[in-house]
Amino acid sequence: MKETKSKKLDPEKVMERIAEASRPTVAGVEEKDVRHWVTIYVMGRGYSVPADLTILTAMEYAGYKFIRGCGCRQGFCGACSTVYRRHGEYKLQTGMACQTRVEDGMYLVQIPFSPAEKASYDISKEAYKVNTLLKHYPELARCVACNTCTKACTQDLQVMDYIQAAIRGDFETCVNESFDCIQCGMCALRCPAEIVQYNMAQLARRLYGRNDRPEPKHLTDRLKEIEQGKFVKPLDEITKKSKEELEKLYYSREKESD
Ligand code: FES
Repeated sequence: MKETKSKKLDPEKVMERIAEASRPTVAGVEEKDVRHWVTIYVMGRGYSVPADLTILTAMEYAGYKFIRGCGCRQGFCGACSTVYRRHGEYKLQTGMACQTRVEDGMYLVQIPFSPAEKASYDISKEAYKVNTLLKHYPELARCVACNTCTKACTQDLQVMDYIQAAIRGDFETCVNESFDCIQCGMCALRCPAEIVQYNMAQLARRLYGRNDRPEPKHLTDRLKEIEQGKFVKPLDEITKKSKEELEKLYYSREKESD
């Protein structure tokens, strides 16, 4: 792809906008307005927090600041995967911290992000066969079908099924079953065979898309437009707009009909 020139953004302004966008939703919660409280334990220490908060906002309410492990706050980016235990249960549960409500007596820990192995490859040089998956992710062959990955999935995907489909060389099933993965990493974190399910499935989707799907004309056309620099000027203009102008633009945008 050709490089396109664009004006440099003011890093201070960009940081201000990011800070504003990621402002904790608990800011401004008044204790007198809270009707129900629960006690949660973070690393063994008890905190009283409003009952309707998510794990993410409850931890922020308790004073924790997320530098990592928090992104979209809407259940899409996969950054906030978390492990917790309910009061009186021995089992560890998994979930997205931004989507899971706190419960009274919940035990929480902060887990480090999972530095899962990610193969590096040039997709145009890879053969469309199961051996390619095994070449980059040989652990795939160690799957013992224990189903731990499926139980750990925060999106209720049938992870073990798509792993088994990949082993059989059934790309289509692997692709369809893994399509809604948000790459939170919980499957890999719990897998006794140390398979990195989500990265393997991404490779399967890329191979399938490249070899088994027709070329999408709209995408090819749009890529050409980007290469020709069609969006450089509009992008420059939009980055100079104020928050109010951006909001106005957003609400008046053209929408797809339902
Ligand atoms: S912060 Fe993005 S999924 Fe929770």
